[in-house]
Amino acid sequence: MKMFLFLLLLGIVGPHCTSARTHSLKYFYTASSGVPNFPEFVVVGLVDEVEMVHYDSNTKRAEPKQDWMSNITDEVPDYWEGETQIALSNQQFYKVGIETLKQRFNQTGG
Ligand SMILES: *[C@@H]1O[C@H](CO)[C@@H](O)[C@H](O)[C@H]1NC(C)=O
Ligand SMILES: *[C@@H]1O[C@H](CO)[C@@H](O)[C@H](O)[C@H]1NC(C)=O
Repeated sequence: MKMFLFLLLLGIVGPHCTSARTHSLKYFYTASSGVPNFPEFVVVGLVDEVEMVHYDSNTKRAEPKQDWMSNITDEVPDYWEGETQIALSNQQFYKVGIETLKQRFNQTGG
């Protein structure tokens, strides 16, 4: 079965001037169509290659994957609601992209 997998590396933050160490921030957006047991849209956010945020089209919730991310609501109470809205909006955007690709490549299945 052919499948469309879409990967977009949204951003990598380079060296931080205040620290000798280099850290990274990466977000992976994955959109797919018709892949068994795999959500149509997944967002994974990583700091230094450790997953700290996760969203998928099954749960439709942006959720913390690390304690220190859970605590962000101490400072920004509606952080997860905001992240969820952004992810939902991107999910729609990527769904349209997948449909467009399917049309352009005459892909009738997933
Ligand atoms: C997060 O908050 C909990 C409860 O307030 C606290 O026990 C914990 O130490 C905090 N963790 C971090 C990494 O700040
Ligand atoms: C898709 O089908 C159309 C009509 O048959 C054809 O003109 C076009 O070249 C096809 N596109 C691809 C990417 O195969």
